[in-house]
Amino acid sequence: MKLSVLGVLLALSLTTRLTEAATSNLVCYYDSASFLRTGLAKLRTEDLELALRFCTHLVYGYAGLKASTMEVFSLNVDLDMFHYNNITMLRTKYPHLKILLSVGGDRDVDEAHPLKYLELLEANTTIQQNFIDSSMVLLRRNGFDGLDLAFQLPRNKPRKVHGTIGSYWKKFKKLFTGDFIVDPQAEQHKEQYASLVQNIKRAYWSANLIMTMTVLPNVNSTWYFDVPKLHQHFEFINVAAFDFLTPIRNPEEADFTAPIFFLDEQNRLPHYNVEFQLNYWLQNQCPPHKLYLGIASYGRSWMLTSNSGLSGLPVVPATYGPGEPGLQTRTDGLLSWPEICSKLTRNATAVYRGPNAPLRKVTDLTQKYGNYALRPADEVGQHGLWVSFDDPDFAGIKAAYAKSKGLGGVALFDLGYDDFRGLCTGQKFPIVRSIKYFLA
Ligand SMILES: *[C@@H]1O[C@H](CO)[C@@H](O)[C@H](O)[C@H]1NC(C)=O
Ligand SMILES: *[C@@H]1O[C@H](CO)[C@@H](O)[C@H](O)[C@H]1NC(C)=O
Ligand SMILES: *[C@@H]1O[C@H](CO)[C@@H](O)[C@H](O)[C@H]1NC(C)=O
Ligand SMILES: *[C@@H]1O[C@H](CO)[C@@H](O)[C@H](O)[C@H]1NC(C)=O
Repeated sequence: MKLSVLGVLLALSLTTRLTEAATSNLVCYYDSASFLRTGLAKLRTEDLELALRFCTHLVYGYAGLKASTMEVFSLNVDLDMFHYNNITMLRTKYPHLKILLSVGGDRDVDEAHPLKYLELLEANTTIQQNFIDSSMVLLRRNGFDGLDLAFQLPRNKPRKVHGTIGSYWKKFKKLFTGDFIVDPQAEQHKEQYASLVQNIKRAYWSANLIMTMTVLPNVNSTWYFDVPKLHQHFEFINVAAFDFLTPIRNPEEADFTAPIFFLDEQNRLPHYNVEFQLNYWLQNQCPPHKLYLGIASYGRSWMLTSNSGLSGLPVVPATYGPGEPGLQTRTDGLLSWPEICSKLTRNATAVYRGPNAPLRKVTDLTQKYGNYALRPADEVGQHGLWVSFDDPDFAGIKAAYAKSKGLGGVALFDLGYDDFRGLCTGQKFPIVRSIKYFLA
């Protein structure tokens, strides 16, 4: 009698401990390109180490897919030949850490073969074996625990706006998301993905390698992912639920790039929010503990015109494509959190005009949609800027939301865009810390 009570108690404490463990994972993406930047933008390995106390998984980005042979390969051999090992060796100092290699992401840019990930799905099993074998060699030789499939599958088309300006960006839009990219064979590709995943899993299982996957922004899960068949094969699934709108995809209007909830106004699309994306997986039998919410540590910036108004209230009309690249990101319309922070001001009487004037931050008091900051265009229509972003506070709100839904954790994209030098408030990795605090 006593023994059985003890047994029940033990079982209870074990399950609570298991569920506690299941809610606390923090997957940290590490784009090795941040190691190659110079000056203050460079994320050195000693900086990276500060974050590893907080991360349960480190995902090294990014390996590529060789279109000719369907092999996984290093996109930068000069760096990776040493850096792979330098990173996986960190495990000796941080034994709790699992270290994965991610294939795809948005780094595997291959203009000659924009659809190579579909070609991989369509290939026969002999060819697909090249993918499996090459990945296993790469992982084992370099000491990785497993592979993250972040396949670049065709993206949703951005919603149309009928502006009068921005014809240049319209052309741009066509280039990236024109009709050729709509996938008439999505149903078939969905089946092929599930069977490839099953085959990879079978090979990895016996080699003791783990496999995860990442749903990249705007890759439509309804088209490509047969959730009931997939979830069992993955250690976890990261849903990169951000970049629903970007200044490249949506040059003529700006909106919250990663709202938690649907704001049913102004013809917003119902699936462009965190909740919809997560619910799609959950409603299709993905166990919540296998699902991780992806959060971005960068923001997206649009140029404002005189017709964009002064309030900044999204949806912001008549924008003119991406804002200038940050010194660190060097990418149009993309700013890291420390870059955004440096543009904000707490000075209520500051003058918000001109190229170097600060941005006024607007905090979302509902905690549902996200924060933004702006500088309206000046008298001649110049220097207007609007930025949507998740700061440490909002990233924490999202982590708490993920926890409240019983998810397995959060995936942060990317350590290199968090404030790893503490330039903003003196605290290093404030986004990582905030997420960890709310996951605990
Ligand atoms: C690898 O680590 C060694 C020893 O710490 C260091 O000298 C070297 O610069 C590192 N190389 C890379 C590419 O990370
Ligand atoms: C698989 O595809 C390759 C390339 O398309 C072809 O050369 C090979 O014969 C095919 N193998 C089988 C077993 O169908
Ligand atoms: C995929 O796209 C369709 C059509 O635009 C949309 O109805 C659906 O909700 C999308 N699915 C997800 C998971 O976003
Ligand atoms: C705030 O901005 C005003 C106008 O630009 C400036 O005169 C003032 O010195 C600033 N105050 C602080 C504390 O920076």
